[in-house]
Amino acid sequence: MESRIPEEIVEEVRFRADMVEIVSGYVNLQRKGKNYLGLCPFHTEKTASFTVNQEKQMFHCFGCHVGGNVISFLMRKENWTFPETVRYLADRYGVLLPQEELSRSQQQEQKSRKRWTQILDWAAMFFSENLLSHPEGAAARAYLEGRGVSEKMIHDFRLGYAPNRWDTLLEALRERGVEPEELAEAGLVIEHSPKKYYDRFRHRVIFSILDSRKQPVAFGGRVLDDSTPKYLNSPEGKFFSKGRHLYGMNQAHQGIREKGFALLVEGYLDVIALQQAGWINAVASLGTALTKEQAKLINKYTQRVALCYDSDAAGIQAALRAGEILYQTGLRVDVVSLRDAKDPDEIIRAQGEKAFQEALDQAKTYVEFKFHTMMAERPPQTIPEKAVLVTRLAPDILAVKSPVEREGYERFLSFELGLTLEAVQREILSQTREASKLSRKREYSNKTKDISVNNRDTINKQEDQALAPVTVTVPQGVYGAEWILLRLLEEDLSRLPRLEAELGSGFWRVPIHEKIFLALRNAGSRDFLSYDDEEMLNVWSHILTREIDITQADKIFMDCVRTIHAADREDRVEDLQVEMAQREKSGDFAGAVALLKEIGERLKRDEK
Ligand code: UTP
Ligand code: MN
Repeated sequence: MESRIPEEIVEEVRFRADMVEIVSGYVNLQRKGKNYLGLCPFHTEKTASFTVNQEKQMFHCFGCHVGGNVISFLMRKENWTFPETVRYLADRYGVLLPQEELSRSQQQEQKSRKRWTQILDWAAMFFSENLLSHPEGAAARAYLEGRGVSEKMIHDFRLGYAPNRWDTLLEALRERGVEPEELAEAGLVIEHSPKKYYDRFRHRVIFSILDSRKQPVAFGGRVLDDSTPKYLNSPEGKFFSKGRHLYGMNQAHQGIREKGFALLVEGYLDVIALQQAGWINAVASLGTALTKEQAKLINKYTQRVALCYDSDAAGIQAALRAGEILYQTGLRVDVVSLRDAKDPDEIIRAQGEKAFQEALDQAKTYVEFKFHTMMAERPPQTIPEKAVLVTRLAPDILAVKSPVEREGYERFLSFELGLTLEAVQREILSQTREASKLSRKREYSNKTKDISVNNRDTINKQEDQALAPVTVTVPQGVYGAEWILLRLLEEDLSRLPRLEAELGSGFWRVPIHEKIFLALRNAGSRDFLSYDDEEMLNVWSHILTREIDITQADKIFMDCVRTIHAADREDRVEDLQVEMAQREKSGDFAGAVALLKEIGERLKRDEK
């Protein structure tokens, strides 16, 4: 169990750690004015847009808009948890961690987890030694070679071989002082009668399932021929649950960020073949249906998944279910269909990488895929049958946030089924409960209220891979005014009362700005960052790494206040115009004229 690290320690670590020094371990940095510049380690680029600000101890990439401080840099780069990162830094910079007070059962658990990790690590070493340097491993080596698996993959994925005998692992680990009972608990041997054990994996190629530190947490073993069962896997245990891991994730997390999407496949060998061919974003679930936890794990690194399951009937059904779960988790799902090949490994081997890329380029959205699957299963013949089909897709379409995209699906259905768009839309809407209908309406009217210009320069760039798509539209200038105000507050928190006197506190239009503001205000200091809020880290680091002329702080402050006031007035005028139009329509001409007068007065006032 991880125990909490005290706040003072985290601060001490951040104070002592040097951002530039840490980053230099990964990136070649060049000094440029106040900042250091280098090639971003989180996405592929040719010109440097990765910036480290020595004074603020923050980094930000102006290309992919990822940012944060020294702790979040390491968390991202090494895929460590927060406590792991703080411990590493504390160790490196000589900050003493308080002796953790663990209860006896926690101590016991920590000890047995350590032991379990050690045993699995030894087992992986044993398997790999057998594969690489024992005469017995020859058949397995030939098998992997025949399947085109490179040496590098064998090494990176810690592949191995379990010899064709009943007790080789048992004996090898006994020499290291591991008891059979311990091996049984780790799922590596089976107790066939009291105190009698035999190796679980025999004469199989071993696939190690690795955690983020490249430590095995379980194994899968494949036969070398067509016998069954094709795969044997470690059973679930105290420290291992299939539904929490994805095969290949220890390597793929970085690739997923780089490519902007995860490639989810079914088989161990698919992951290996894909990663070998450069799809470094490939992962697989562990031979069972995809779980919510696995979907969330993917969602930690991206908003988008391309599903490429086996092309047989079972694969299609599994893809439907997996798609559903990913979709519900809020991921955008595309489905790749392979023609004339069973799985990604096969298409790459038989038809080459290009063939797979083509299939990927032709991926269908999840809604289209589901539609085509349902059409193939049971093509609707009558109007009521068509209605049923639309009804079954309704929840998926209603879950789509973008109104444009949603209408795209509605048009697609109307076209495919030969129904009018209105009929499809009515059918879909009839599926929503009263409540969701209302919230949809509200969402629309909110949108239409922001008639303002989209501040392209600042907002659209944020719709980058690492960030959730930002759909706010704010008036020109307001976005800038808001972030500059936040920056001025960071420079000097004593500006807060003045800010609230001028503008109150509910004026923020960009939700993430408001969130930062509230966190800053509540913390009463600059140390308010939350390490699991990526959006906050990215935006805050952006704000801190941009240049502003701090000698002009007071003037800039007032300019921002004025910009926000002006936008508010404009909004008010727009509201009045809408109201006036409504009155006119309903015949209340006197009311309309009164409003017109008020609008005129307001505009005149604004000109001054
Ligand atoms: P596949 O049968 O598609 O295997 O099962 P594969 O990975 O493509 O292997 P090859 O290409 O035939 O050698 C997909 C995944 O389902 C799990 C494994 O995780 C496998 O990678 N599985 C399959 C099992 O756990 N047990 C089995 O008996 C079969
Ligand atoms: Mn296969």
